[in-house]
This record gives sequence, structure tokens and C-alpha cells, in this order.
Amino acid sequence: MRHFLTLADYSKEEILDITKLAIQIKKETKAKIFKPYMPHKTLGMIFEKSSTRTRVSFETGIYQLGGVGLFLSSNDIQLGRGEPISDTSRVISRMVDMIMIRNDSQKELEEFASYSKVPVINGLTDMYHPVQLMADYLTIIEHGLENNIKATYIGDGNNMTHSWLMLAAKLGFDLSIATPKGYEVDQEVLDKALGFAKVSGSKITITNDPKIAVKDCTVVTTDTWVSMGQEDEKNQRLKDFEGFIVDKNLMSMASNDVIFLHCLPAYRDLEVSEEIFEQNSETIFSEAENRLHAQKAIMVWLDQKRDEK
Ligand code: CP
Ligand code: NVA
Repeated sequence: MRHFLTLADYSKEEILDITKLAIQIKKETKAKIFKPYMPHKTLGMIFEKSSTRTRVSFETGIYQLGGVGLFLSSNDIQLGRGEPISDTSRVISRMVDMIMIRNDSQKELEEFASYSKVPVINGLTDMYHPVQLMADYLTIIEHGLENNIKATYIGDGNNMTHSWLMLAAKLGFDLSIATPKGYEVDQEVLDKALGFAKVSGSKITITNDPKIAVKDCTVVTTDTWVSMGQEDEKNQRLKDFEGFIVDKNLMSMASNDVIFLHCLPAYRDLEVSEEIFEQNSETIFSEAENRLHAQKAIMVWLDQKRDEK
């Protein structure tokens, strides 16, 4: 049985297999062909943090696959009142076929998975957001950039940055990351990614200068400067991130065929200018839609792996 906790656990071939499945499932969905890949299966969806895309895409996705989603807000289940993760996992995984969880800590996610009888999917933690990156990769392919990815991440060294690091390092494309001083990526994650990059041939560049990072790249991406749970740091962060906005000036230094991605929610005129956001809105909202298709593929793949033995 496999879990989907971080792309660090996945080989290039597996990431490409899941992506291939996502392309096929998307094609079927667009043709209104809803094959029951997971009939009568239940997906438990535990949320300790807010969500729009993750909730709607997983719930719609499992329904379209022939199953049903169970929305479990930690405010409503006993987990929120102190029932241990280990007990919650042992109970829920005896009743459902797969679990998606959005929680604070990657460590707790791993603990949850270690007690689970069914595959567990990371719906975002403090360290990683791997399902988002599968949607982002699908979007990149759809823009014909599969063999020409030179990606740049501008902003906070957070869960999204770590996930970009893993995707690049596993698939072998180049990635430059520009963060303000003091907001760099986690050193342990970086070291791990550099290890994978050695094998895949990916060139990882880390800088504090967005202009250096963005030069000639074909994919620019960013994320909020204030992630969920960091609301108290907002004022300080807005000061520290000055000069890191993705705007017309910065985008003009990228390649001519550059695309802009954003996992959303986006904060206009903070991490991205209103102008750049709106100019790229078709791509950004396709990226959001691709959450549905990519995650259906992840669920089907995990379900099939479970049956293999
Ligand atoms: N990008 C993303 O995960 O969005 P939500 O927080 O709305 O799920
Ligand atoms: N870095 C953001 C991503 C939101 C999808 C957060 O963790 O809040």
C-alpha cells in the first residue's frame, strides 16, 4: 500500500504515470464519461485548516469516480478536542477506503499514515503541498512546456516552495528560488532535493534576488506571503517581502513564452500584481481546475496499487 505524503517518496516514473492517468481521466471527464474507477469507495477528508480548492476538488473527484467523500472538519470531530491522531487514524481507516488530510504538521501527517489501514493523501501541511504540484505539472504540460521547463519561484520558502523543489529534483528540470533573507527554504528539504537533483540532472538555484531567479525562465510562480497559521506575522512579512512582487517589470525578464502559475488564493498587489494576475487568469484557473483531474488520478493510482499484490 502506498501513501501520497510528499513527492520525495515518488520516482520520476511514478509521477509521470500518475500524470498520464490524469490526462486520460481529464479527457474522459470533458467527454462526460465518468468511469466508476472507485465504485462504492469512501474518501474521508479531514480538514484542520480552511480550503476551497482542495475540498471541492476531492469531494467532486471521488463522486465522479463512483465513490463518496466525507467532509470531516477537525472542529466537528473528536480530533479537535484532543483525541490522539493515532486513534483517529485507526478508527477512520477501518471504515473508509482512502483518507485525505490537511493538517498543520508533516510529522503528524506521517504519524497518521503510519497508523492507517488505507492510503493517506497529503492535502497540505506546513512542509508540503504535493497534490497542488501534480496539478501544476499537468498545467505546464498542457502549455506545451514539458521539455522546456525552466521554473522560478518568487516569495516565501514555504510548503509550496518545498513541493516545487521536489518536483523539479525528481523530474530533472531547472528551478530557481528567490526568497527574502530569513525566509529561505528549509535546509533539510533543500539537501534532500539536491540529492535527487544529482541523479535527475536538475539545476537548483537559490538566491535572494528575484531578478537573477527569473532570467529566461518559462514558468514563474509564487504563493501568498502569509500562509495559514502565520496571520500574526502579517505586518512584519509585508515589510520583509517588499520587492518580491511578481509584476510586469519582473515578468519582462523571463522568456517570451513564459506562463505564470499561482496555487491560489492570491493576494493582488502583494505577491502578484493585479495586472499580471489578470493577464494570466486563464492559465491560473485551468491550474485550479486541474486539481480535480490530477487528484482523481492520484486516488485511482493509489487504489490500484492497493489491489496489486
Ligand atoms: N491551493 C489550494 O490548496 O487551495 P485551498 O486552500 O483553497 O484548498
Ligand atoms: N502556503 C499556503 C498555501 C495555500 C494553498 C498556505 O499554507 O497557506
